[in-house]
Amino acid sequence: MSGAPGMVAVLDLEPVNEDFLAEVLAGLAASPRSLPCKFFYDEQGAELFQKICELPEYYITRTETELLRRHGREMAESIGANAELIGFGTGAGVKTRMLLEHLENPIAYVPVDISKQSLLDSAAELSRAMPTLDILPVCGDYLQPLQLPKSLRKPDHVAVYFPGSTIGNMEPEVATDFLRRVCRLCGKSGGLIIGVDLQKDRAVLEAAYNDSAGVTAEFNLNLLVRANRELGADFDLPLWRHQAIYNAREGRIEMHLLSETAQTVRVGGVDFHFLSGEKIITEFSYKYSQAGFAAAAASAGFRLARVWTDPQQLFAVFHFTVAE
Ligand code: AVJ
Repeated sequence: MSGAPGMVAVLDLEPVNEDFLAEVLAGLAASPRSLPCKFFYDEQGAELFQKICELPEYYITRTETELLRRHGREMAESIGANAELIGFGTGAGVKTRMLLEHLENPIAYVPVDISKQSLLDSAAELSRAMPTLDILPVCGDYLQPLQLPKSLRKPDHVAVYFPGSTIGNMEPEVATDFLRRVCRLCGKSGGLIIGVDLQKDRAVLEAAYNDSAGVTAEFNLNLLVRANRELGADFDLPLWRHQAIYNAREGRIEMHLLSETAQTVRVGGVDFHFLSGEKIITEFSYKYSQAGFAAAAASAGFRLARVWTDPQQLFAVFHFTVAE
């Protein structure tokens, strides 16, 4: 699957339209109603997310990138030489590259992302920057068990990189199951580098998901735009409002779309009646304590090797190895 620099073949396991429709129908019929956040990332959604990353209120990307800048070399040393790096949800690939650049003799890089365009763009750019690296991109949902491509050369060990606190989108039991699967994927000598957003003041968290420029609102509402375009749904956009609140008891940001009035929406031939003020949950974003996350990873079979955090303890990057 390798070719000229800048030309990278992608293994395409992108969810198809029928998957999107089935999940939207199931989510809207459930109580409480919900829509899966993985569908945020169509081409427009991925672009809006890039804009979110640059917002003054959204400290997450900036803080994690700064951790990579300061400690990327240590992280790479902690991973070790001759690794195959598997990236889950690596998006534009800025952070991954900061890690790859410090790795000693990386054997291959397998980025897995649901957003095809940003996957293709970042893989092509990386292949120009690191022409000898075997890059094997996979477009798909890494929550589903995936058959990942094999690299040409055999690595000494596998390192999974899961940046962006995307683990926060999973409910705790799902997160532990996922980590357990990652642990198996790593094998005995492998490891996991994972970025996790930490618990902090409600005001800071809520500002990050209710930015004053309204980009997060647009990102959230784009899910309905996408359902209208791809599924022929008839969501009336002005009748829906973005909301993000911190649920301190559950330790999570909850993003909702609120129905501004009583209304009926038709999707795939099915009518859904909404009360005025009724919500659709579109995303949970769990925030962990350092100890809490280490405990969750330990219960999935990992042993904490190192952790890096910023002076304000906004965000943490953990390196776990597989416990004996
Ligand atoms: C990409 C999942 C880390 O939860 O902060 C940003 C997505 N949602 N603003 C997050 C998101 C609203 C983001 N993650």
